[in-house]
Amino acid sequence: MGKHILILGGGVIGLSTAFACAQRGHRVTVLEQGRCGGQASGAAAGMLAPFSENGEGPDDFFRLCLASLQLYPAWQQTVKEVSGRTFEYSHTGSLNVVYHESDRLALAGRAAWQERFGAQPQIVEGADLHRLEPALSPAVHAALYHPDESHIYAPDYVLALEEACRKSGVQIVDHLGSVRVIASPDHRACAVDKKGVTYEGDCLVVCNGAWAGELQEALGLQIPVYPIRGQICAYELPAPGSVRHMVFGSQGYVVPKANGTLVCGASEDVAGFDTAVTERGIQRLLNWNHRLYPFLEELEPYHRWAGLRPATQDGYPLLGRLSQQPAILMAAGHYRNGILLSPVTGQAVADLIDDRTPQVSLARFALERFTRQPVR
Ligand code: FAD
Ligand code: GLY
Repeated sequence: MGKHILILGGGVIGLSTAFACAQRGHRVTVLEQGRCGGQASGAAAGMLAPFSENGEGPDDFFRLCLASLQLYPAWQQTVKEVSGRTFEYSHTGSLNVVYHESDRLALAGRAAWQERFGAQPQIVEGADLHRLEPALSPAVHAALYHPDESHIYAPDYVLALEEACRKSGVQIVDHLGSVRVIASPDHRACAVDKKGVTYEGDCLVVCNGAWAGELQEALGLQIPVYPIRGQICAYELPAPGSVRHMVFGSQGYVVPKANGTLVCGASEDVAGFDTAVTERGIQRLLNWNHRLYPFLEELEPYHRWAGLRPATQDGYPLLGRLSQQPAILMAAGHYRNGILLSPVTGQAVADLIDDRTPQVSLARFALERFTRQPVR
């Protein structure tokens, strides 16, 4: 018989986990303090780019990202079918650009290790680069081309996930204000909302993104998760296809969306839980954007926004079960890659709940890795 699972937080991670659990026959309740997708998940650029986001080398985090990219085709199809909603899922490929000959060697080094993971990276330059991406600045010296990287339209994806959850019988209780997790003596999970309403389940999955650190005391765990603000903007492109690929550089990235807009991100600033957009933050992006595409100098972004990435002390998410309170699991701290990681996270947490071994090792992401002594 299915279990009753409480999910704390209705971002992409909470909704994916809820959906995966509902698909396996569990009864699921999502508890959201505001609006589902109203925080980082609705602000994201939607890139599914494990090779571009992990240039340094193939660590366990890269493997998790790659596993999730491979789950995406079937996962997004299921979300569309169950929800009855659609969202953009584009296979534009990506270019990682450099401006100097001396940086070409670094691209070659990346290509060498990434080939071992089934990618087909190519270094492109000169006329070949111009053919691939005609509007790119001639100042760009070379690029590492990844034909396999893709992106989705994150706000629509999150709406579809929410609808897929509802249609699968998930109960979504939103606008609750901050929900507290409380220790339950009988190995059940328990949470209380602002009005004092208590929710009980067989287990509870903490998926509250940048706010996870607030649960340190309740969980008796060091949770070094903190918000890193990403300021981001979008232009209306003058002509369809004027930017063809996702393009990454040392200062940011651009993503051409099917609706004719170009999303350009993103700052990484420490501003607590403030989601304001600042002139300085956006101006830094604009200065870089036209070094990449000179035609952007004539344009003004039509939309500017910001979200709070859930960063952790070591850059890895917290994924697993709490050994001292086995009714509590956590999936938080996905930092720059929560949209990409949503399918693998949902499946892995559902595996843990079903007492199955997840397909990808979670050892490196263990919840207790920061906790040397009990938290009081
Ligand atoms: P959130 O979406 O923040 O959801 C957490 C939810 O928990 C919120 O809705 C919040 O209200 C709720 N909550 C918090 N505390 C409580 C409580 N006590 N009780 C009840 N509810 C609570 N990732 C990619 O993969 N690709 C990208 O291209 C990409 N681009 C990005 C661009 C920007 C500008 C930003 C900011 C992020 C980007 N990311 C990207 C990262 C991605 O958005 C995050 O990793 C992801 O959204 C994290 O999802 P989450 O569900 O953990 O957090
Ligand atoms: N992954 C892109 C960002 O976090 O800005």
